[in-house]
Formats: sequence, C-alpha cells, structure tokens
Amino acid sequence: MSNLFHSVRGTSDFYPPQSILFENITKKAKRIFSIFGYEQLILPHLEEDGLFKKGIGEVTDITQRQMFKVAGKDIVLRPEGTAQIARSYIENSIYKHRDFCKFYYTGSMFRGERPQKGRLREFHHIGAEAIGSNSFYLDAEVIEVAMRIIESAGIEGAVLKINSLGCVKDKDKLSSLIKEQLSLKSGQLCDDCRRRIVTNPLRVLDCKKERCRDAVSSIKIDNYLCDSCYEHFHSLLKLLSEMGISYVYEPLLVRGLDYYTNTVFEITSKRLGSQDAIGAGGRYNNLIKSLGGPDIGAVGFALGVERMLLLLPKPEEKPSADVLVAYTSDYVYKDAYDILRKLRNYGVSSVIDYKNKSLKAQLKWAQKAGIPYVVIIGDEELKKSCVIIRNMRESIQQEAAIGDFPEIIKNLTQGSKE
Ligand code: HAM
Repeated sequence: MSNLFHSVRGTSDFYPPQSILFENITKKAKRIFSIFGYEQLILPHLEEDGLFKKGIGEVTDITQRQMFKVAGKDIVLRPEGTAQIARSYIENSIYKHRDFCKFYYTGSMFRGERPQKGRLREFHHIGAEAIGSNSFYLDAEVIEVAMRIIESAGIEGAVLKINSLGCVKDKDKLSSLIKEQLSLKSGQLCDDCRRRIVTNPLRVLDCKKERCRDAVSSIKIDNYLCDSCYEHFHSLLKLLSEMGISYVYEPLLVRGLDYYTNTVFEITSKRLGSQDAIGAGGRYNNLIKSLGGPDIGAVGFALGVERMLLLLPKPEEKPSADVLVAYTSDYVYKDAYDILRKLRNYGVSSVIDYKNKSLKAQLKWAQKAGIPYVVIIGDEELKKSCVIIRNMRESIQQEAAIGDFPEIIKNLTQGSKE
C-alpha cells in the first residue's frame, strides 16, 4: 500500500503559476466590484441545512443529492452564497439601516457532485448580490459586472443567455404549461423527471439525460408573463442592447435553484464542453421575504473560478522576487542576511539562498527563476563598504555604496515594472 496521501476527488490544489492566475482573477474582480460600488461580505463555510432547503428549494439536485453534511448535525458546507447572504442580511438586520445594499463575495462552495471536468466538489465563486430594488437597470448592472469580470480575466467569446421566469404567479403558470406538455411525453422521461413533473416541473428542464432533453426540446412555452414582468424583461433586453451587451434569448432557461423570479441568465462558453456555464445568476424577489426578511427584490450572480481557469492558457512562470541577495562565502552570510532585511524594509521583494550554494549556483538559480537583479556581497565589497548590483537580463553590473544601494535597487525594480 502506498504511503502517499492524495487530494480528495473533486477538489483542486492551486500552486504557482496557477495560484497566481487565480489571485489575479480575484484581484481584478475586486477592482471591478469597487468601481461599481459593491462591498465585500465574508461569511462562514458552515450553515444550517434548513437554510438551503428553504432557500434553494426541497426538490432541487443541490438539496436532495449534493449537500455535504457535517457529521451528525443539521449543519452543511455551504453549496452557494445567495441564500447565505440573504440569511446574513436578515439576521444582522442590515435592512433596518440600509434599504439598498450591494455585496460581493469570493470563496469555496461545496457540492457532492460526481466529479468531472469543470464539475468539482469544492469550487470557488466570485459572486455579487444587489438587494433592495426591482429596477431592471440593476439587472443590467449586475450582468455588466459579471461580463466585465470575465473579460478582465482575458476570456473571450463568452455568451450571455437570458430568460425571464416572471413573478410567482407567472412561474406557476409556466410550471403548469410545462407539466401539461411534458405529461404527454412522460413515457420518454427518466424516473426522476416523471416524479418532477408532479413535484417541480421546472426542474425537468435542467435534466441532463438525453431522452429528457429530447422531450424538453420539442415543447413550446409562450405567453406566461404578466404585463409588468413582460415590461421588466423587455426593458432589460432593450437596455442591454443599448449598453452593447449582446445576449441570446433562451425561452427554456430556468436554472436549477428555486428562488429565481423574473430575470435568469447564464454566461457560457462552448469551449467548456458539457459543463458550459462560466457563471450564472438572476433575480430572486421572494427569497428574502420567504426567509423572514422584508419584502424586497434582489438580483445577483456567481462565476465559477475553476471554469474561468479552464478557459485561460497556462500562465508563464513568474519570478517570486525582484532581487536575490548573493554571498561569496559563509564568512559574509550574516552581512548578506542584513542586506536582505534592509531591502525588505525598503519594500523590495527579495530572497536569499538558504542551502549554502556556491556563488555560481546562486547566479544560476536567479537566472532560472527569472529574478532580474542580484545584489552580491563578498569579502572585497565588505572591506570597501559597497555591494555589486547585477542586472541579470543585460549581464551588466555596477558597484554601489552600502548606504545608497537600497534606493538604487528600489528605483531599478520599480522601473522594470513600469
Ligand atoms: P450556480 O449556477 O449553481 O448558481 O453556480 C454558479 C457557477 O458556479 C456556475 O455557472 C459554475 O461556473 C460554477 N459551479 C457550479 N457548480 C460547480 C461545480 N460543482 N464545480 C465547479 N464549478 C461549479 C449559484 O450558485 C447562484 N448562487 C448564483 C446566483 C447568485 N444567483 C443569484 N445570485
């Protein structure tokens, strides 16, 4: 038996350069959130099971099959952020002093899925929830933020698919229409979907089985939106066009979570294969009220970071520091160590060898790691109270007085980043 431990199936380790790319996506997203006036929420990974049953719905894949229970308790690892944010918004009475809030969040979500490409058991969301308005302008803003984050990561060709489920009454009408049409084809459906026709007909539209997809593809659903929901949806579509955001209207897009009302959307890429959604979102005008909060509308989205990473080329290795402090012998190691600390106090990212390498090996290391500058200290330099600054890219070096070199290095390294 092997002594090696392995990561749990459906989880990922991120190490450089992938971890740097992950961090850059998050940093750029945070910048975009700040431009649009969204504030960060940091929430726990553990929540009560009941929150998601009530929030997402009892008859959904997530609550029926994918919850990670924490042993013996009604506590689960959070499968998503929207119900959780609604819980926090209500529990902390945020609505009492702010009737409109825009939040963003980043972090791990957990779903007990069968792992495959783009479908993990622990994955990461970058998400946003704007709470307290029914304005279609807010739907457009949320969609714009999601599209901008995807674009800023360098992902091209993402397609926005959009639909409206309407208000609760419209959704009931939609459910009845789906039930009516699919009942005629119930023989074609899988066992689960035959049950779903009775318990939650909208969920049949999410089934990935080919026979169910075939049955669904031939149904025609139209005219279930009331005047006000129709107006909301078509005003949003017009606004998106005016904003230069292209979309594809998908009349059968319903999403796998029950809290949605009105706008629902997915941002997809063909390059992802069968799990093609980079992100998704929509309006949930009844969720906050159903969890015991005020009767206010909200809209949000979440992007899957791992799926974004799948769409990006493997990044180049980047140097872990700007400067290597090199020493010629053990005798000057303590002086080299002092120089290292001085540079770090100046805010210069610097490293030193801890493995007693020869000077030649230290320089080779810097070359291989792409570290642009090496500060060399030896007996001679110590005597003259100076150091040698070597530019590794140009293979040139200069002497600098001990008192001056941190400033020189700081200017050099800042210059090389501009
Ligand atoms: P969701 O569609 O379940 O929506 O998840 C959003 C995104 O997370 C997906 O489009 C996908 O990129 C990624 N994702 C979901 N499950 C997995 C998985 N098992 N492995 C890898 N990536 C995955 C929500 O969670 C809603 N809370 C979104 C939302 C926010 N709606 C309104 N506000």
